[in-house]
Amino acid sequence: MAGGLARLTDELGILYGGDYNPEQWDREVWREDVALMREAGVNLVTVGVFSWSHLEPRPGEYRFAWLDEVLDLLHDAGIAVDLATPVASPPPWLGHRHPESLPTTADGTVLSYGSRNQFCPSSDAYRTAAVAIAEQVAARYARHPAVRMWHAGNEYGQVCFCDRCAERFRDWLRARYGTLDDLNAAWATAVWSQEYGDWAEILPPRVAPYHRNPAQELDFRRFGSDLLLDLYREQKAVVRRHDRDRPVTTNLMGFFGGIDPHDWRADLDVVADDAYPDPASPDAAADAALVNHLARGLAGGGSWLRMEQAASAVSWREHNLTKSPERLRTEVLQALAHGCDGALFFQWRQARSGPERFHSAMLPVAGADTAVHQGVRSLGAELRALRGLVGEPVHRRVALLWDWTSWWAATQVALPTARLDPLATLQAWHRELWRLGVVADVVPADRADVALHDYDLVLAPAQYVLDDDSAARLDAYVAGGGHLVWGPFGGVADGLSHLHAGRSPAPLRHVLGVSAEEWVPLPDGGSAVAWSGAGVEGLRGTAATLGERTRSDGADVLATYDDGPLAGCVAVARHAHGSGRTWYVGTALAGPAGGLGDVLRAALDDAGVLLGGQGPGVETVWRGGVLVAINHADRSTTLDLAAARAVGPAAVPTAVLTDLLTGARHDGSATLPLAPYDVVVLATGRP
Ligand code: GLA
Repeated sequence: MAGGLARLTDELGILYGGDYNPEQWDREVWREDVALMREAGVNLVTVGVFSWSHLEPRPGEYRFAWLDEVLDLLHDAGIAVDLATPVASPPPWLGHRHPESLPTTADGTVLSYGSRNQFCPSSDAYRTAAVAIAEQVAARYARHPAVRMWHAGNEYGQVCFCDRCAERFRDWLRARYGTLDDLNAAWATAVWSQEYGDWAEILPPRVAPYHRNPAQELDFRRFGSDLLLDLYREQKAVVRRHDRDRPVTTNLMGFFGGIDPHDWRADLDVVADDAYPDPASPDAAADAALVNHLARGLAGGGSWLRMEQAASAVSWREHNLTKSPERLRTEVLQALAHGCDGALFFQWRQARSGPERFHSAMLPVAGADTAVHQGVRSLGAELRALRGLVGEPVHRRVALLWDWTSWWAATQVALPTARLDPLATLQAWHRELWRLGVVADVVPADRADVALHDYDLVLAPAQYVLDDDSAARLDAYVAGGGHLVWGPFGGVADGLSHLHAGRSPAPLRHVLGVSAEEWVPLPDGGSAVAWSGAGVEGLRGTAATLGERTRSDGADVLATYDDGPLAGCVAVARHAHGSGRTWYVGTALAGPAGGLGDVLRAALDDAGVLLGGQGPGVETVWRGGVLVAINHADRSTTLDLAAARAVGPAAVPTAVLTDLLTGARHDGSATLPLAPYDVVVLATGRP
């Protein structure tokens, strides 16, 4: 899988560039583009993502001369191309001639063309046409020297509820369950008289009078992800017929619910991710780090590629704050610190027309004489100086568990509360880690190939679904000496959203030494939590949203609910299991003291993970022998090098650090000033 990136970066260094849509411009502009790209240090552009109608204006009528010219121009300028199979947005002729190729929503509305992404993933007409255009593109350009990578489709995420999708869903279910009896059992269709007597009766979870079957919904999510993966594979297979060699990928979208990326990763030669952190969010830097941790987790801890980001504002939020060049630089260098080996943008040149005309780009509509473009240029120059980071591993000892099945299931309707959003819980836990200076991979609990024993501490903030195999892996991890922190409303259901029988979390309660008999939404204002364990007596916190009616089955109780419906129940506990240790945190805990951050700090300490926390807003990350320190805040601060070095890899030599961007050398125990949004990249040993 991800090895495809090394071949590109060995040749080109850190990848820098973006989506390039020359079909929107005339020739003179192409020439200017290429000249400006060179000046900006661009070495890779993604071409053709939305070019289908320009390449095939009528079915079977191809127009390639313009793309020939663009690829030649780019190649002559030494700019490599990530060439798209342009199948994300079919031309109007497809929807016009084949209305059945258009997608249908859950309420039966057929979506029109005139936008983009208007296809039904099951449509034979779409698939035939998509394979045909991909075949043309791959056959024509597989040997073009500019092409170094293939970009199949774009941001796969289409969902359709049409009759053809219903048929394919039934095929998928037949393969999964074999018999109707097994399907009825798996979906618990005895509830509400839903038993199916004929495969033909089974439908996607379309709009219905009341709540739909949760197992059916989960299976439809899985099916939808598999169906899109099938499309991606079809495109990749076309490319492979013409090019056996160069990496093929598509762009993921971080925490996007439409596909389960863990099912895709084996088919992606490069893990490529799009990210658009909201500059308006006070947690943008921490949350951006979390998305980077997900990408690295998907890449098995190796390098990955940022396929898209915005140079300044996006245009799809309600209110689109701009990003200063300094802030953009922090985001790009932050990703690099977290294992990213390329910074690509949507898009190279800002559109003058179309729905994305207010979306920023590397080259704004106002031209090159702009702060955004000058920032892009200086960043391009800096990235050349950071080539040594490429391929280096990120130093991390902690994992955050997160899998799509659990996310999907925990966001279904009719739960004890709709207020315990799993992603918000993950983010809240990670923000505490981030403040403490801890880097964590995001890895799935539901895959056997994740090596949990590589981590000193595993956090499970929102593991609603826990099947028996995953529980057995966690048990073995802890018994073997690992440390696990378990969050609220975890281990409640199996992979079909059926509740586990018995005290909760049934598959893991012996590991936690705590069990619950009821999930209890807390009144507005929450409940007081009183701490009682050694070293924490007298601390008080607040429990919010949901708790569990618990008892200790052997765990040391650290905190109990002091009032409200759970008064006297265990809120936080610690338990020894085998040679390891577990921490149970059964609610959303807030401080100021005795809050989540304090529990995580204690668990990290217990697991021997040193904290790299510097001043507020300062993030430090070790990548290989290089320390990246980022001031995400709008105020000056300092960087304590001795403290930062203390949490780095043990093998790193210490005496002098060299700033890879300025050449300055610093004593390894110095305190460096950090200006607002400043980033320093310091090499130990040989720069
Ligand atoms: C996505 C798409 C791009 C563009 C950007 C805008 O990432 O892939 O084509 O629309 O969003 O932010």
